[in-house]
Amino acid sequence: MATEMALVKPISKFSTSSPIFSNSRYGKFTTVRMSSTSQSTAKAAAKGGKKAAKTAIKETLLTPRFYTTDFDEMEALFNTEINKNLNQSEFEALLQEFKTDYNQTHFVRNKEFKEAADKIDGPLRQIFVEFLERSCTAEFSGFLLYKELGRRLKKTNPVVAEIFSLMSRDEARHAGFLNKGLSDFNLALDLGFLTKARKYTFFKPKFIFYATYLSEKIGYWRYITIYRHLKENPEFQCYPIFKYFENWCQDENRHGDFFSALLKAQPQFLNDWKAKLWSRFFCLSVYVTMYLNDCQRTAFYEGIGLDTKEFDMHVIIETNRTTARIFPAVLDVENPEFKRRLDKMVEINEQLLAVGETSDIPLVKNLKRIPLIAALASELLATYLMPPIESGSVDFAEFEPQLVY
Ligand SMILES: [Fe+2]
Ligand SMILES: [Fe+2]
Repeated sequence: MATEMALVKPISKFSTSSPIFSNSRYGKFTTVRMSSTSQSTAKAAAKGGKKAAKTAIKETLLTPRFYTTDFDEMEALFNTEINKNLNQSEFEALLQEFKTDYNQTHFVRNKEFKEAADKIDGPLRQIFVEFLERSCTAEFSGFLLYKELGRRLKKTNPVVAEIFSLMSRDEARHAGFLNKGLSDFNLALDLGFLTKARKYTFFKPKFIFYATYLSEKIGYWRYITIYRHLKENPEFQCYPIFKYFENWCQDENRHGDFFSALLKAQPQFLNDWKAKLWSRFFCLSVYVTMYLNDCQRTAFYEGIGLDTKEFDMHVIIETNRTTARIFPAVLDVENPEFKRRLDKMVEINEQLLAVGETSDIPLVKNLKRIPLIAALASELLATYLMPPIESGSVDFAEFEPQLVY
């Protein structure tokens, strides 16, 4: 998983600052712990007996989430006795792809990293750190989910289980590489702590399929777009991690293709009116979450020479075209009305964030938020109700994993 997927909820409910403190596990590094309550981190800091250096990390409802699902239902879905649509030879072919492990030797660092990090200063430095933290959390979230699925499906469907385990290998590598990037900034995410402290969002299996398919494909388009842009404009190549995105994104593409195969093996999730409504809902959630998140961080995208909104629209349009091959309905994102409504949501979200920044008491803040939340909800609904594009794969039998460049 490479991107942040959250159901769109506008309020920064958890805007607590978490202390950062030294931790012997990481030697001289400062360990960053993100938590939904400042209390737990404060307690942890006290337990460590180290002096806390204060730096704020905001966790909001738009931050990357961790997911869990109904594993019993998953087992039933992948039981070849029950589900006759499971095309085992297709999954075996995919397994061979994953076993090949194209990127086994790809994620090797060099001294350029630290040198480049030392040159990044001012506001861009903080934004870079935030980018690394959020990306690392999103990748790690994929690792946890896939690892658990690999473990739980072992008996029912060893082939699918092994693919999940190999995908968790990829995500662990991605998260680890990003975390090493943080070490260039003398920081490290405490992933063990994150595993225990973060809240897990429960999604039924079919929602996991829609959400993770989109996360993987949008992650692919984000990475490849940044990679291509920086290849053409090397003057913005301020940190070497982006040079790794070309091969890295092929991992995400393969993960997405696997979810595409999983969805095809469960045609009940693709072929009725409910599937169409959910497909549109998940597209909307993923696109809006990304757009709102990125528009709050324009300094990062501008820092690498991108126009945030142009970049996001490109990613959304390409992801939507890819998704239309499998989802039975997608949003009409190329209709100018779609972008107009996204921009309106950005405006409302900025007003919501501004309310949070005021010195008003919580009750006043909440009262001020009500009309804004209503306005955001009505924009979301109007976008959802825009005439959709009927889509989906006609030929379910044909499936070939392939590299997309
Ligand atoms: Fe990944
Ligand atoms: Fe992935």
